Amino acid sequence: MLTEVDSYIEHLCVPHDEVFEQALREAAAAGLPEIHVSPNEGRLLYLLAKISGARRMLEIGLLGGYSALWLASALPADGKLVTLELEDKHATVARQNLERAGLLPKVEIRVGDARRSLEAMVRAGEPAFDLVFIDADKEGYPAYLDFALRLTHPGSLILADNVIRDGRVTDASATDPIVRAIRQFNQELASHPDLETILLPIMRNKLDGLAIARRR
Ligand code: SAH
Ligand code: DHB
Ligand code: MG
Repeated sequence: MLTEVDSYIEHLCVPHDEVFEQALREAAAAGLPEIHVSPNEGRLLYLLAKISGARRMLEIGLLGGYSALWLASALPADGKLVTLELEDKHATVARQNLERAGLLPKVEIRVGDARRSLEAMVRAGEPAFDLVFIDADKEGYPAYLDFALRLTHPGSLILADNVIRDGRVTDASATDPIVRAIRQFNQELASHPDLETILLPIMRNKLDGLAIARRR
């Protein structure tokens, strides 16, 4: 029933865009894992970016560029998306997908371990971002939150994918390092004095979720 509702919402609310569809096909054809955000979650990212008026965005975890297409298409003409990706192969596919959409001029792809890239950004005094979307390795989430707090300003949004993991995050005794890292991340996000947070369940093949936090 939930997958039917998900596809009902998609057909009703997500405009068909051949360039977005082709991006998913190219990523699959290149053998990338099919772990991009769903069309409905992409639409939600786009709306959050638009509603917040974000001009400078940071993505951690680019893959084939599907979520980056949604975020970059919400940018104003002079806006910018910096996106971090470990795998050269993923970045190459993403670059082509963004180019095809005419969005590449607004996107800066930095290939390498995100922690290293983020350290370099902090060291270089990178101007603050209005929106950060965390979606790379799940064990890195607590560290990515620390960096997000250093690279944002009051009013910025911090978003993170995969914070529900089929409900496994509700298990306080979980030993899986991914579940433990996400639980720690969610706890820090929810209890941080400078953040106002909600976790939004998101239906795909399984139940997952998007964290939405706003810096006070
Ligand atoms: N945001 C994408 C999906 C990202 S999947 C979308 O919705 O379309 C997670 C990505 O994070 C993968 O491409 C993976 O290669 C990348 N990744 C994993 N560990 C990383 C690290 N340490 N630094 C940067 N990227 C990493
Ligand atoms: C998976 C899904 C994701 O959205 C992601 O970023 C990483 C992994 C998964 O379902 O395995
Ligand atoms: Mg994800």
